[in-house]
Amino acid sequence: MMRTVYVNGEYLPEDEAKISIFDRGFLMADAVYEVTSVLDGKLIDFDGHAVRLERSLRELDMTAPCTKDELLEIHRKLVEENGIVEGLVYLQVTRGSDGDRDFVFPDPDTKPGIVLFTQNKPGLANSPASQKGAKVISIDDIRWGRRDIKTVQLLYPSMGKMMAKKAGADDAWMVEDGYVTEGTSNNAYFIKNGTIVTRPLSNDILHGITRKAVLRLAEEAQMQIEERLFTIDEAKEADEAFTTSASAFVMPVVEIDGVQLGDGTPGPIAKRLREIYLDESRKTAI
Ligand code: PDD
Repeated sequence: MMRTVYVNGEYLPEDEAKISIFDRGFLMADAVYEVTSVLDGKLIDFDGHAVRLERSLRELDMTAPCTKDELLEIHRKLVEENGIVEGLVYLQVTRGSDGDRDFVFPDPDTKPGIVLFTQNKPGLANSPASQKGAKVISIDDIRWGRRDIKTVQLLYPSMGKMMAKKAGADDAWMVEDGYVTEGTSNNAYFIKNGTIVTRPLSNDILHGITRKAVLRLAEEAQMQIEERLFTIDEAKEADEAFTTSASAFVMPVVEIDGVQLGDGTPGPIAKRLREIYLDESRKTAI
């Protein structure tokens, strides 16, 4: 089905949507993005994504293309027009273009670029992948040093996914200076003796919106949480592991670098967290 997408102020059929070849998002990866999930036709944690977008823009001295309320309206209109019940809304803001290629930022008055489109994912909440659990491999983290800013520089994460596929796995966890940073498009956790361990927030990882919600819910459920650096070897010896993201919620991990965790099926705590997260998210969706 032909989607309606949003490009620089207009709602258009996807095959009529165009951006300039001089757009800095295209030429320089000078752009930031957000991915918001949709369940029951409603947006999950829209506010968290909008606040992180504002932060990413501020960190890069980029101009906001519109207000938060306008952004919400665009998200909702696309979800409705495209009949999305379960899926995602992708949003990208670029520094725009002043009609040429230049390393120097264009005048701050240059109009930012903005693009939104939906992705229909029926069965996202009940995905077979989440019931099976993911196999991950570890790879070196060679991304830039400001991973807390959600930029569109996704070439290395994309290569990481391909390395995983080639190795017969589903995803890759990145390792820097001996410690796991995060997954290619998710935050990483392991569980040992009932304690959930994950890397603390810093410039080294994306401050996941799902991470924040899941840690809050885990705390409310009296689970033990340790935010600290951890090695891939520790994770391999874990009872369970999982990742979090807006695109896959809580995804159990059942194998790391060929080492099976537990009995090789999703662990009870990861499964429970997925349930709690989905229940709570549906309640607060807008
Ligand atoms: N990725 N870490 C990285 C590197 C990510 O790209 C993402 C999200 C996350 C999880 O963040 P959140 O919980 O806010 O989705 C962590 C999105 C889903 C993507 O690139 O498609």
